[in-house]
Amino acid sequence: MFGEDTFFIEEEQTEIKGQTRTLLRKLMPYFTKFRSKIITAALLLLISTVLGLFGPILLKHAIDVDIKMGSIHGLIRTSLLYLSLQLVVYLIGYYQRIALAYVGERAAALLKQNLYNHIINLPMRFFDKNPVGRLLTRVDSDTEAIKNLFQTTAVVITQDLVLLVGMSVVMSIINYKLFLIILVLLPPFIYAFWWFQNRVRPVYLQIRRKMAEINNFVNESAQNLPVIQAFNREDYSYQKMERLSNEKYAQEYVGMKMWYRIWYLVDFGEVLGLVLVLGFGGIWALKGFVTIGTLFLFASYITRVFMPLRGLSDQLNIMQRAFASAQRIFNIFDTETEPQPVSDAKLISEIEQPKVSFQDVYFSYDKSKDWVLKDINFTIKSGEKIALVGMTGSGKTSIISLLLKFYLPQQGIISLEGNDLTKINNQVLRSRIGFVPQDIILFPGSVFDNLRLFDLNVPLGQVKQAAEQIGILKTIENFPSGFDTDLITRGVNLSVGERQLLSFARALVRNPEILILDEATSSIDPHTEHLIQEGLIKLLKDRTAIIIAHRLATIQMVDRIIVIHKGAIVEQGTHSELLKHRGHYYRLYRLQYLKQKP
Ligand SMILES: Nc1ncnc2c1ncn2[C@@H]1O[C@H](COP(=O)(O)OP(=O)(O)OP(=O)(O)O)[C@@H](O)[C@H]1O
Ligand SMILES: [Mg+2]
Repeated sequence: MFGEDTFFIEEEQTEIKGQTRTLLRKLMPYFTKFRSKIITAALLLLISTVLGLFGPILLKHAIDVDIKMGSIHGLIRTSLLYLSLQLVVYLIGYYQRIALAYVGERAAALLKQNLYNHIINLPMRFFDKNPVGRLLTRVDSDTEAIKNLFQTTAVVITQDLVLLVGMSVVMSIINYKLFLIILVLLPPFIYAFWWFQNRVRPVYLQIRRKMAEINNFVNESAQNLPVIQAFNREDYSYQKMERLSNEKYAQEYVGMKMWYRIWYLVDFGEVLGLVLVLGFGGIWALKGFVTIGTLFLFASYITRVFMPLRGLSDQLNIMQRAFASAQRIFNIFDTETEPQPVSDAKLISEIEQPKVSFQDVYFSYDKSKDWVLKDINFTIKSGEKIALVGMTGSGKTSIISLLLKFYLPQQGIISLEGNDLTKINNQVLRSRIGFVPQDIILFPGSVFDNLRLFDLNVPLGQVKQAAEQIGILKTIENFPSGFDTDLITRGVNLSVGERQLLSFARALVRNPEILILDEATSSIDPHTEHLIQEGLIKLLKDRTAIIIAHRLATIQMVDRIIVIHKGAIVEQGTHSELLKHRGHYYRLYRLQYLKQKP
């Protein structure tokens, strides 16, 4: 069994210290696939960075040699050399970026695909604890954050390091005394910078949290707009949004202030460096110890030393975000799909065995809470149709969720033709069951695709036949483009009755041995009600069926009724037997079903 907390993925994990290496190791396989491209890009990066170092050296040459000698030829030559050097640097940089962009996009796509694949195979328990909106962020922005880390941050940081080392070497060769002066300057600046960084980071984390909160709220509001408007709750929404925005802006303001301090600190460092070079270097130049070209070279290197520091804050931010993203992604990967047998394991069909059997089943969604289902025992013979009835929240849907293996029971055995469900592969199990859920689920797409559920192996003829049997063929053919009519999001362009019949037809297309129907509760007009009953009769013919019945006509159609009360089976029997018994069913019948006219 799985622990409850293994299913909860923390929204914002900030403590990623010490795990960076593990995360990098886990990310590796997504990039090593493109090893040769990465190596090429790294080499190009190295070459273009090192070549970039030569720019100021050429300028120094122009000042110290060409201009000093008054050689126009030399000056032109050096200028052209400088121009070609820069062109080559740009060209190499361009190809390096393209190579990395390719790898980044491919790796992110791969990661996204794997993540999605993992998510859709996770047990239902996982989705009880992790809202869909959050998973959406996982698949989308978390993979993007990792891509950014690879495409920009990794490049910028490598480049800056190479530059720093390269410039140090050049400067110390040309004039080590001047270089030492700059070297003394750097440590206090790096320390100050670091100190600010650590204070800014939590602020940005807060900003991101607020941003997520605002996004969620806007998303939620948009979805619930009919309720918000109908109940005149615009004011409340407005005020809540105002509060969230204010909180975010307050944090943003703090962050900005700190950020500008860092910015000016770096600027000041640069200025100080230049002053020192001009001061000491200038005096030495007057004495003839250093050339003007050297001063120029140092000045341009100093601006370059400080330039990366400005971007570093952003880069650290991206890095931090990417590692948090990676952590969340791998938490999902670490959430295991429930182990299940391989799909080619055949079922041993023992005809004498009941089709479906529940033995001493106990189940709870949340281990710490009370049982949702207690001591459930029942069997269903082949071809038998049973109805589950009970008050709302009694556990009917939970029983069929167990039969579909959406959840595993904590105790007891559920079996199909004598085979323990835990030993049956999910796909094999579900291929034998047709399921019509309580909330009718339609996908954006054509009617045809909705009926065959995008299974290209199902021909139109088979779909038409099912529609005909359910009695909705005429209705579909009257749609603007018949079976090709597009269903807008969740089929909003259909009536409730039409949607119900479509979901019947969808189940019939599969021609399942066992049918599970969680009857929709919405009330419909007598004519549609009649159509649905007719469709249902067709659907149930020659099939084993479990129906969670909300309609009187449906209960009267089945062979046996199982009454659930507070998670336990309290009565079983036919409609008339149960009525005679005058127990739970009798009361339920008077409350719930009697007012419906059959
Ligand atoms: N995913 C879930 N996580 C936690 N608790 C759940 C979950 N689904 C249902 N429950 C709880 O389990 C109990 C049984 O719910 P179930 O959906 O099986 O009732 P039901 O008999 O189908 O009700 P209805 O007639 O309203 O559909 C309820 O108390 C419900 O709150
Ligand atoms: Mg239900």
